[in-house]
Amino acid sequence: MNIILFGAPGAGKGTQAKSICSKYNVQHISTGDLLRKAIKDETDLGLQAKSIVDSGALVPDDIVVGLIKEAIINSNLEGFLFDGFPRTINQAEALNRLFEEQDMNLEKAVFLEVKRSTLIDRLTGRRVCTKCGETYHISSKPTKVDGVCDVCGGKTKQRDDDKKDVIENRLNVYEKSTLPLKDFYQRHHKFVAVDGEGKTEEIFDRICYALKN
Ligand code: AP5
Repeated sequence: MNIILFGAPGAGKGTQAKSICSKYNVQHISTGDLLRKAIKDETDLGLQAKSIVDSGALVPDDIVVGLIKEAIINSNLEGFLFDGFPRTINQAEALNRLFEEQDMNLEKAVFLEVKRSTLIDRLTGRRVCTKCGETYHISSKPTKVDGVCDVCGGKTKQRDDDKKDVIENRLNVYEKSTLPLKDFYQRHHKFVAVDGEGKTEEIFDRICYALKN
């Protein structure tokens, strides 16, 4: 089963992706996570991508498509959940070609619908562990001890691109480049919209229902 999970920055893609992957036994591929790892490891790609990611702009299509190809080819699982990819029409077309080459099918493109005020609250309140990457939120999912990851004891911090001025840019970039994907997947009859407001577990139930029907 191959699923695309898309929506605005802060829509809850990463949060839901974990539960979806464990329920459907598919591999989580997040281009955001892959880029952040490359930046942390200071690889050539990471050095190239850092200023782009920090500004809230999109990394060039050929770079992210390359990351996706590598992740698919190196995986021993047969299904994937694409989180944060595709993000442009060009990327969606490249993914279609990749599916054809690899004899893969898309089950559904799930769009998480969340209003702007909720997105801003989720993004400004997000904290991530600098060691294991676990995600928290200062009010909806706080750490037990302030600034310390519950899972590994690492230090938590705000992502550089979760600062207010960068968030504004990310939301604008999203509206211009990623929102057109709704029409793209509607045309391919693979599109399903899910209400992304409310409790995490309720949203997960809605996604499972959408995948079943
Ligand atoms: P990426 O990491 O993909 O960022 P994003 O799409 O902006 O998404 P986020 O990670 O910000 O949010 P999310 O939807 O995963 O929300 P989360 O579950 O964490 O990309 C970062 C950058 O990399 C891009 O800006 C770009 O530069 C580059 N990039 C990545 N992919 C690219 C591509 N394909 N092409 C080009 N460039 C690319 O939740 C957010 C917060 O809300 C958390 O604190 C969470 O705990 C909380 N929360 C979640 N759900 C709920 C809920 N139901 N109730 C209360 N709180 C909740």
